[in-house]
Amino acid sequence: MRERDKIVQALDFLRKEFPDYRPEAVLVLGSGLGEMSREIEVLSSYDYHQIPGFSCSTVAGHAGTLSLCRTKDLRLAVMKGRVHLYEGYTAAEVVRNLRVLGLWGAGTAVLTNAAGALNPQFSTGSIMLITDQINMTGENPLVGENIEDWGPRFPDMSSVYCPELASLALKRAIELGIYLEKGVYIGIKGPSLETPAETRAFRRLGADAIGMSTTLEAIAARHMGMRVLGYSCLTNKNLPDCMVETSHAEILAQAGKINRDLTTLLNDILPMIT
Ligand code: HPA
Repeated sequence: MRERDKIVQALDFLRKEFPDYRPEAVLVLGSGLGEMSREIEVLSSYDYHQIPGFSCSTVAGHAGTLSLCRTKDLRLAVMKGRVHLYEGYTAAEVVRNLRVLGLWGAGTAVLTNAAGALNPQFSTGSIMLITDQINMTGENPLVGENIEDWGPRFPDMSSVYCPELASLALKRAIELGIYLEKGVYIGIKGPSLETPAETRAFRRLGADAIGMSTTLEAIAARHMGMRVLGYSCLTNKNLPDCMVETSHAEILAQAGKINRDLTTLLNDILPMIT
């Protein structure tokens, strides 16, 4: 089945199951991230496997969950779990679920991830607001036939992360007393972490944080005209001249700790983003 048909299949399923629902925003929660507050009412939840056409990880326990939620002011779809290029998925598969929600009506995508800090002034355990990105994955979800109904052949990328949403995020973080770094996210394919030489090179390219997700989703979201807001949870620090070993377990443990701040920020800002 072609990519477009899978998206239509997922969209038809969701529309039939939930005729009265249309998400206004979508929140993508990255690895180890995401405790949702009680203020977010979950109307229905689906395992990705239950949605025909949806991309889902074949690894047991990593499948992912889509929750259709409502806050006082916003209809919010929450995707917990994503598929990655390093698992062997194509760029189109990586962004498929987000596209389904964008076509269903979501006008804003809030993307979160776990990332390594490349900026030596950033500390582990803090959160970086993504101001721009470098797509270093070598892949692009827009390669191939362009579907004009989704967006233009050569979409503008001069402002991937919505400046108005970014200013609001910074303002709200100050009011909540949560320190936010600001910077450029570089997305790589992975799954190997960076060598010291790569770390030095990426820093020189202008990146402040590095991870294995988000860039393709942001491209697909902008292609569809969605506004994008992005947060990186800095789970470790990569400094080329004093590299320390990083393990996946450590990244997940740090992500858990940053969760509290991220949850506070998200619960505060989500109702304001319509
Ligand atoms: N590099 C790449 N991806 C990551 C890292 C890192 O240091 N930390 C969390 N995701």
